[in-house]
Amino acid sequence: MELMFKNDFYRNKAFNFKETQNNNHTIYDAFFVLINGVDKIDLYNLCQLITDYYSDKNLTFDEAYAITQGQSILDKLSCDEATKKVVYTLAQYSIENGIHLGNNTILDGKINTSSWLSHSLFESILCGQLAETIGLDSNKAKILGLLHDIGRKQTHDFSHTIRGYEMLVDQGWENEAIACLTHSFLAGGRCSSNEQAEPGFYVDDEGISHFDPGVKKDDVTLFLEKYQYTDYDLILNIADLMATDKGIVSPLDRIVDIASRRKAFDPTNRGFFLAELTNHLNSFRMQMQGKNLNDFVEIRASRNVSLNDLNNFFTEASTNFFDVYKKFYPSKEETKKII
Ligand SMILES: [Fe+2]
Repeated sequence: MELMFKNDFYRNKAFNFKETQNNNHTIYDAFFVLINGVDKIDLYNLCQLITDYYSDKNLTFDEAYAITQGQSILDKLSCDEATKKVVYTLAQYSIENGIHLGNNTILDGKINTSSWLSHSLFESILCGQLAETIGLDSNKAKILGLLHDIGRKQTHDFSHTIRGYEMLVDQGWENEAIACLTHSFLAGGRCSSNEQAEPGFYVDDEGISHFDPGVKKDDVTLFLEKYQYTDYDLILNIADLMATDKGIVSPLDRIVDIASRRKAFDPTNRGFFLAELTNHLNSFRMQMQGKNLNDFVEIRASRNVSLNDLNNFFTEASTNFFDVYKKFYPSKEETKKII
């Protein structure tokens, strides 16, 4: 799918991106950016929790919803940082107890807003954890995890990446906006789970990816060629492949889950994707274990390696990664039930 920025303003900003100094955005602010404009039905359970928590204020349901939209309720409750913290904490409580923030129960196989909000919250938790294991800023990673899929407010197709970037730039979240562009593409390549390869993309006999010379590349491909992935982008890549709307699972389980909801399947892209993901999981696991990356053995989707072999390599990498992750963060009781 061709991914183009709306105009040169966004294109130039992305192509010339430089991270700016700490902008003092808190995770509570990020959560409110995430839920801003989300329909009542998709925040229904969260609003109930808010009215219960503030029972002394006698908030109506609509007033609780107004709070989620950043509005203060005259003489009752102002939507300040303390209130935002409560709302965010209630949202965490909700998903950790197996309850979506909303009651949207579309069951036609598509992602619905209630479920992507849960996915984003679980991804945020996981990003924070992975960052912590290798000594990075877990709060920053959590914020990126919350906001990476914000483009899904506009569309659930693959252009949610670029639309999300534009939305966050518009709202003054330029550092975080990059996460929208990078989270779906492994380690900078134009390579993604279960997506068709772009026109002109091919993998040579050695398993190295290329584009046919002369093929017109879209904006995201050009951006990815220029941009240097940070450890935070790499964490998001992994976290996006482990966070569902119900909890945190192994990369293998999540890939099976995604495959069940999508039709596209392209063996060329698939083999390359599995090799990239395997390498990524193995090298990150070694970092978590404090091992020397000189011992890291890269695999490639070369001509003499079958898709079946790559599946096996990936399965082993996923199991090993998940085992190490669980040693750091033993799971609480399995998430019970999502409504
Ligand atoms: Fe995601």
